[in-house]
Amino acid sequence: MSALRLVLIGASGRMGQQIVRTLPEFPSVRLTGAVVSGRSSALGRDAGTFAGVSELGVVLRCELSSLLADVDLALDFSHPAAATDTLAACVAAGVPLLIGTTGLGSELEAALTAAGREIALLAAPNTSLGVTLLAELVQRAARALPPNYDIEIIESHHRGKRDAPSGTALALAEVAAEARGGYLSQQACFARPRTGPARETGQIGFAVVRGGDLIGEHQVLFLGEGERLQLAHSATDRAVFARGALSAAQWLARQPPGRYAMRDYLFSNSDL
Ligand SMILES: NC(=O)c1ccc[n+]([C@@H]2O[C@H](COP(=O)([O-])OP(=O)(O)OC[C@H]3O[C@@H](n4cnc5c(N)ncnc54)[C@H](OP(=O)(O)O)[C@@H]3O)[C@@H](O)[C@H]2O)c1
Repeated sequence: MSALRLVLIGASGRMGQQIVRTLPEFPSVRLTGAVVSGRSSALGRDAGTFAGVSELGVVLRCELSSLLADVDLALDFSHPAAATDTLAACVAAGVPLLIGTTGLGSELEAALTAAGREIALLAAPNTSLGVTLLAELVQRAARALPPNYDIEIIESHHRGKRDAPSGTALALAEVAAEARGGYLSQQACFARPRTGPARETGQIGFAVVRGGDLIGEHQVLFLGEGERLQLAHSATDRAVFARGALSAAQWLARQPPGRYAMRDYLFSNSDL
């Protein structure tokens, strides 16, 4: 089987470098292109040496389109500002795309849907297999427990994270809201005033912690009368996101055009 030829967008970032360092675990994936922003101090550097591993002969560039000829997949862990151009470039080149970037915003939804008609597209705010399974467990719990079990989500990340609540927290809340037949937009409570009315039934509350080098922790609480169910995930190594993304990338590259999620990959060989 020939190697999967991969272009990585955001290759100089925390996640991009982690993906480069994780590549040796995936001998059937070959990095053929690496992209950073036009103002990056890493422009022109080798993606391998920049990530602290051996030279790969792949130079960090800021022009995606020219790197998409003869590749099998693009993997994006960069910034929401890059998403529109990345989608357009991948659609034009007919290259499947896995977007791990978070904070994409609802205004991109139409472009994602349109792109999913042309290419295999997977947008995942969290590519760890554990969080993918957590979302399934949250869905089951939200369906099974009566609506007077209050749902609260607590998430913690490193001080450099730019979006809050995390894309993962929002995705978990969305799963819970949908499982209860509602919409997160009508149920989310992102902040509580110092004094004000008590919590409403059906609300999904968020609490956000930012600091230090925390990689990512998510806790979903179902708080009932006399009992509390806690479903939680802690990432202790950024490599889990890289491994999940690279495994899903290999699967995605073989799929026909469509919108996919991490659960489609995780359960592709399972009866769950
Ligand atoms: N899905 C998941 O499991 C998962 C896990 C962790 C993080 N994330 C998300 O992944 C994204 C990246 O996280 P990070 O911690 O690696 O961030 P980061 O360290 O700030 O890195 C961002 C990267 O994107 C590049 N970039 C910024 N603007 C760009 C543009 N317009 N075009 C092309 N490249 C651009 C940066 O290049 P220069 O700065 O060199 O210009 C850098 O390489 C975030 O949205 C984060 O929330 C997702």
